[in-house]
Amino acid sequence: MRTITSIKNAKNSEKLVMITAYDALFASLFDEKVDMILVGDSLNNSFNGQKDTNSADLKMMIYHTKAVLRGAKNTLVVTDMPFASYTDEKTALKNASKVYQQTDTHALKIEGGKERAHIVKALSDNSMAVVGHIGLMPQFARSWGGFKVRGKDKEDAQRLIDDARAIEDAGAFCIVLEGTKEEAAKAVTEAVKIPVIGIGAGRYTDGQVLVWSDMLGFFEQFKPKFVKRYLNGAELVKKAVEEYASDVKSGKFPDDEFIY
Ligand code: KIV
Repeated sequence: MRTITSIKNAKNSEKLVMITAYDALFASLFDEKVDMILVGDSLNNSFNGQKDTNSADLKMMIYHTKAVLRGAKNTLVVTDMPFASYTDEKTALKNASKVYQQTDTHALKIEGGKERAHIVKALSDNSMAVVGHIGLMPQFARSWGGFKVRGKDKEDAQRLIDDARAIEDAGAFCIVLEGTKEEAAKAVTEAVKIPVIGIGAGRYTDGQVLVWSDMLGFFEQFKPKFVKRYLNGAELVKKAVEEYASDVKSGKFPDDEFIY
């Protein structure tokens, strides 16, 4: 099982793999196959059917983290701090401590760059391992008027570099960089000593993270350009359920094999 130190040391020597999970069943399937599992607040979209992540709350994150930890016993687990749970240092410490105490999660992820560095510092100074999240930040999407790709010009690329450095200096052990032009993502990755895990940030980051329901093809409504589908999950499931329904209606199931 990876440790925080081994994740930090992976920089420039191996690519890191992260995937999201929200429940014990899928977490047990991903266990030991990836370096880190993220209990992302994306669960509010793909699991809870909401249009964005903003209504995910602390109670949900704690519930799903406990489930994931029961399934993934040998993988480093990171929990997303939900929207509005880290508005200032005092609130962040109170809520982050709650997640740390009520679950056995190994680390917490918070969205925000320079402007949130003091929050990262408050948590890491109080013995909590922190993953930063910069670039396109879903918790900001509503106020930004949508999901906007970052790093399109030199100024924004520099802003992202400054964000990454501020988060690193504040004590984060790793950074998620989302929805960023490849060249800017490369510059951000090279600007810090901690690993940068990309999602929609091209080839040159220190690792990749994908949302499980996207990469396994279960989430059909929308496929971001950066998602590679490794399975046609939705198609397979729908076909299987149709076959089951048809077998029951026709009396084909259960037959001799399935009767006590
Ligand atoms: O919530 C989430 O799943 C995330 C990933 C998009 C990195 O933050």
